[in-house]
Amino acid sequence: MIMNLKDKLDKNKIPNHIAIIMDGNGRWAKQRQHDRTFGHESGVISVKDTVEAAVEIGIKYLTLYAFSSENWNRPKSEVDALMSLLVRTINHETKTLNENNIKLQAIGDLQSLEQQTYNELQKAIENTSSNSRMTLILALSYSSKWEITNAVQQIAVKIKNNELKAEEINQDTITSFLNTAAYPDPELLIRTSGEFRVSNFLLWQIAYTELYFTPVLWPDFRKENLYEAILDYQNRERRFGMTSEQLLNF
Ligand code: IPE
Ligand code: IPE
Ligand code: MG
Repeated sequence: MIMNLKDKLDKNKIPNHIAIIMDGNGRWAKQRQHDRTFGHESGVISVKDTVEAAVEIGIKYLTLYAFSSENWNRPKSEVDALMSLLVRTINHETKTLNENNIKLQAIGDLQSLEQQTYNELQKAIENTSSNSRMTLILALSYSSKWEITNAVQQIAVKIKNNELKAEEINQDTITSFLNTAAYPDPELLIRTSGEFRVSNFLLWQIAYTELYFTPVLWPDFRKENLYEAILDYQNRERRFGMTSEQLLNF
């Protein structure tokens, strides 16, 4: 692997918010003749390495897709193992989050989590709520279509109660009813494991996000892989519908 990518990063162009679809745990384990759970457990090391790298280079928001609404359809044994891993990891890492001044947040249908999972999660969110160096957002039981549907329902209730007029709805209104209302849109979305899809993740929020796909399986993902993705991002021209010439005078 190419080393010292960190030094090549443009410190003035570090993205504010990076979102990651952490994929490939099952295949990584299978390659090693292990069960899928071993892949998920190994993926925790990648999470820790990535969070550490993100904090070090000054990223303010890191959103990790940890469990999708669709993942509930996996075998119960795998779902249980994932939830138990989640609780264990949260309990184990709260101290490190505090030491590193990292605030934990979560998006998704959190009510659908088991009571114990939900309680442990809320506890960690509260215990880290005054941290300010970086916000780590876990997407749990999350799907973008769920989130948008939920926002539409809330907006409809506002209209019914005469708290909002239909013609007053604009893009900011919709943004404000999403789980991510408090966070800026990600500048960069990374997906590991060589799949070229977004799997119901942040559909509204990634309207102008740069997408980066890597064949690296999540349990193999390390700091250097994150730097590599950011370096790629830094070499792109984000035009937002304008021309290159216009950007020069912007
Ligand atoms: C990502 O790895 C973790 C979750 C979706 C929870 P996978 O479990 O999807 O691994 P693959 O894609 O089957 O290899
Ligand atoms: C997406 O991975 C969800 C997470 C990484 C949590 P999946 O492995 O569930 O995605 P698909 O089903 O292959 O698109
Ligand atoms: Mg997968």
